[in-house]
Amino acid sequence: MLIIGCSNSTKIAKSIARRLGKPYSGLSVKKFPDSELNIRFMKKVKGRDIVLVQSFYDNKKTDMSINDQLIEIIFAARTAERLGARSITLAAPYFPYFRQDKEFHHGECVSIKIVAHLMNECLSRIIVIDPHLHRLKSMYDVFTVRSKRLTADPLIADYIKKNVKNAVIIGPDWESYRWAEKTAEIIGCECAILHKTRYSARKVDVRLNKKIDLKNKSVVVVDDIISTGHTVLETIKDLKKLGAKKFTVIGVHGLLVEGALSKLKKAGAKVITTNTIAGTTNKIDIAPLLADALKKK
Ligand code: R5P
Repeated sequence: MLIIGCSNSTKIAKSIARRLGKPYSGLSVKKFPDSELNIRFMKKVKGRDIVLVQSFYDNKKTDMSINDQLIEIIFAARTAERLGARSITLAAPYFPYFRQDKEFHHGECVSIKIVAHLMNECLSRIIVIDPHLHRLKSMYDVFTVRSKRLTADPLIADYIKKNVKNAVIIGPDWESYRWAEKTAEIIGCECAILHKTRYSARKVDVRLNKKIDLKNKSVVVVDDIISTGHTVLETIKDLKKLGAKKFTVIGVHGLLVEGALSKLKKAGAKVITTNTIAGTTNKIDIAPLLADALKKK
């Protein structure tokens, strides 16, 4: 096995290789002035099971967009195949486009299906941490190659157990129910989901789906993705109305775009994320999760 750190994920890939006692290699990724990409393997891949480790998010430092990173993986996988790799696995801490899983408006592209099709064409296996499976129920709804969905729930629960006293877990909406409930179950603490009923433009009723006293609790809002922060900011606003005072916000995937982090800090929240997306909020390491999954055949 050869663990290959792609443009966004060299640190995690090195950590996985160390944990597995397997060799590591970087991937040379160059961008030409006209934005075309040039990919080159730095170690021999012939006859080897190769693991491309790549998370997909806009990266200003490397000047690589999500779409550049998808092309990087397609180029790398196809080249590995041509060079005689035995198998090609993509280990993706964060895989994009899962939220575009239906034709919301007539004529719209169902992006995840197309992106998954491109992956199916060039990979032997794909492993993803907490894919946003909401309307889709399984990875096999889009991937035809071997696939595995991992979850950071136990790692998040462990973080909360060690760092937050008297926690209560809140999910912002029904979409987050799975994350919130599973995490609370592992910790053995209470959990509720926020429920909003809009009667008119100005009259909105906010309730928890069960009765919990929030006043003397450390409220932990858990969601899979924090992107603009809008969902979580609304949640904090609503929870304040219900008496909550102290907030920790935990996201599996901290995309944190459009100044989300400073907005959340301003709202009084401590923001914690896993390192599926590199950033200053990373406090939970997912490398062991991927390493364990790769140990299994
Ligand atoms: C929605 O389905 C997801 O679970 C997240 O709640 C959502 O993607 C967060 O996005 P934002 O931070 O932009 O509100």
